[in-house]
Amino acid sequence: MKSVLGLADMSRDEILAILELAAQFVGEDDAPCTPTRYQDALRGASIALMFFEPSTRTRASFELAISRLGGYPLIFTSDASSMKKGESEVDTCLNLAAMGVEGFVIRHSERRVPFTVADAVDKPVFNAGNGIGEHPTQGLLDLLTIQRTLGRQTLEGVRVAIIGDIVHSRVARSDVYGLRTLGASVVVAGPAQLLPTDRAAWDVDFATERDAALDGADFVIMLRVQRERIHSEAVDTDAYVREWGVDENVVETRMKQGAWIMHPGPVMRGVELSGRVADSSRSLILRQAAYGVASRQAVLLHAMGRA
Ligand code: CP
Repeated sequence: MKSVLGLADMSRDEILAILELAAQFVGEDDAPCTPTRYQDALRGASIALMFFEPSTRTRASFELAISRLGGYPLIFTSDASSMKKGESEVDTCLNLAAMGVEGFVIRHSERRVPFTVADAVDKPVFNAGNGIGEHPTQGLLDLLTIQRTLGRQTLEGVRVAIIGDIVHSRVARSDVYGLRTLGASVVVAGPAQLLPTDRAAWDVDFATERDAALDGADFVIMLRVQRERIHSEAVDTDAYVREWGVDENVVETRMKQGAWIMHPGPVMRGVELSGRVADSSRSLILRQAAYGVASRQAVLLHAMGRA
């Protein structure tokens, strides 16, 4: 059993193994599909879903993934728990583990929390987003989406642009790690105030204009501006839409022919993407949501030694 805390240190072989397993949970026309041999793979296992920040896709897909593998998703609500009386995350998880909970899916605004729980509790911890740290299962589902769209496993020769609020994005970090590991070339772009300053650590190309990032990109991952994490100068929405938004005209005139649009969600329609582009045939957004369940089924089985 092992925790899944990030993609920064996950090997190419391990990523490919998880993605190969995940592909088994995607049926025809992307319909959910759990092969019979996995339907009871988590039978008897209770896994706690501990979301200290809002979530739709990650929480629902982990819950569905656990259920479809025959396990029991224990929904933990911090506001209604003894954490309101001052109990720590670690003590909470130790007590749940003592009751037989066998894994912890944790989303938290503080980067350290999934790591401190994983150090203290002898059960697998699944990082469902830790502040601006990582979002490894989002990274994996994005890789699965790109693999299946291309029809191949490795990504040499593929160019991916990630555009928007890079500095606050745990998705950008996990995507960059995963994409680089599978051989893709990556460019990140956004307004200066939303770009990281530790550029060398990212080991990707940086662009300071949207069209430079779009140039030659096969996949364009658009990101939301995370206003809840911006404590400095506010972002001017009109200027952002003009300079960084992607609408039908930008798709027609600036994007590579046949390039695909992705977004981890939630999409702010009319800001980073027009509604028409989000709903267009070039958009993979709902496919990403569908593959989120398959990817999390694979991650759970892989980490819990039930594959
Ligand atoms: N992509 C993502 O993490 O979405 P949620 O915040 O809805 O889980």
